[in-house]
Amino acid sequence: MSDRKATLTLDGKSYDLPVLSPTVGPDVLDIRKLYGEADVFTYDPGFTSTAACESTITYIDGDVGELLYRGYPIEQLAEKSSYLESCYLLLYGELPTHDQLSDFTARVTRHTMVHEQMHQFYRGFRRDAHPMATMVGVVGAMSAFYHDSTDVNDPWQREVAAIRMIAKLPTIAAMAYKYSVGQPFVYPKNSLSYAGNFLSMCFAVPAEDYVVSPILEKAMDRIMLLHADHEQNASTSTVRLAGSSGANPFACIAAGIACLWGPAHGGANQACLEMLKEIGTVDRIPEYVAKAKDKNSGFRLMGFGHRVYKNFDPRAKVMKESADEVLGLLGIDNNPLLQVAKELERIALEDEYFISKKLYPNVDFYSGIILEAMGFPTSMFTPIFAISRTVGWISQWKEMIAEKNQKIGRPRQLYIGAPRRDYVDLRHR
Ligand code: CMC
Repeated sequence: MSDRKATLTLDGKSYDLPVLSPTVGPDVLDIRKLYGEADVFTYDPGFTSTAACESTITYIDGDVGELLYRGYPIEQLAEKSSYLESCYLLLYGELPTHDQLSDFTARVTRHTMVHEQMHQFYRGFRRDAHPMATMVGVVGAMSAFYHDSTDVNDPWQREVAAIRMIAKLPTIAAMAYKYSVGQPFVYPKNSLSYAGNFLSMCFAVPAEDYVVSPILEKAMDRIMLLHADHEQNASTSTVRLAGSSGANPFACIAAGIACLWGPAHGGANQACLEMLKEIGTVDRIPEYVAKAKDKNSGFRLMGFGHRVYKNFDPRAKVMKESADEVLGLLGIDNNPLLQVAKELERIALEDEYFISKKLYPNVDFYSGIILEAMGFPTSMFTPIFAISRTVGWISQWKEMIAEKNQKIGRPRQLYIGAPRRDYVDLRHR
């Protein structure tokens, strides 16, 4: 820690606030003792200026559009790595050796099936339930099935829970999909890759042979890799906060899935594709851009803007290239939605409103186009985000639990309600 200090002066008294320096990124004022010494809280709704934890996992520089997993740039990982290799990197801190990767892949692969009794569980849901609703329920219910990996104080159980969730989330999401379309569940096939297995569980049927397309398999793997972690976003912070009470890991990840579902977060990929469909043709774009600029409309361009990225979202760049590549390889590069998306991006990026507010396409802007081209309904977009982000949530949860001075998360408030007053009997109100 450096000797640098910031000084806060309040009512004639001065308080020293130590300055903490990260490996990269802006310095952080340490206010942990502020309440004890000065009897004041800080106020920061939405945590726009507050670091809630230390972390070594992911770094974002929103000004230059940089995203690093354990120091490695996302563009390099997207080009050269694979989803499972990046999972290893996020979980354990280093790129694996050949043997480490084989061992990790084997461990994940061995856990892809879910308890057979969980199949009955699905039948309690309505067929038209959103797969995210089913996932929140089923992932939460994992703690009722895997009792031997719920003790958060046992590092081995934490490890088993981590592998179980990374392995089983694709199975759980695919089952939610199959249930919604009235088809039989497809068991995992451990001879397939992680991404290939997910495609097979979603699209195979017992009546026909299913061969995983290498184009779709690669695209799915890349989508998963790009979504694997993103620092202290809303769902990750939810997982950390839930975990800070000592709640079991399955309950914590279920809480993360619930948070991810919102349209301002992971639900934006579904909302974005629905918006592109509603726009429909390039000539209607100006009408929607005008609506997005009108505060009274309540409408936002989905897939645009980000709390941290004030330049471009590096994931969106890779995703746009992937959309071009995948649709090209599938022979549908004249896809009208891709044309609407590209033109919408062009028009918005030349518009003073979006320029001045530093609003750029985010990861969700192009991902839906690829997923739809693969054959997924829009309701499966956010579940795919949840599968991909599970490793990030777990890595962050494990990091938090292993911290020596880990405390329960407990924000304070600026109370603006009624001061103390005496109860008035019903007859006198
Ligand atoms: N369309 C139109 N105006 C926007 C948009 C948008 N998509 N996003 C932000 N603005 C405006 C907003 O109205 C505000 O204007 P003003 O300063 O005049 O009040 C200004 O830009 C700042 O917006 P904010 O809501 O204060 O910013 P935030 O950091 O709290 O929100 C966001 C970030 C991602 C929630 C927001 O940009 C948004 O709602 N975007 C659309 C939803 C979306 O695509 N979400 C996916 C995020 S990336 C995937 C993930 O990591 O989850």
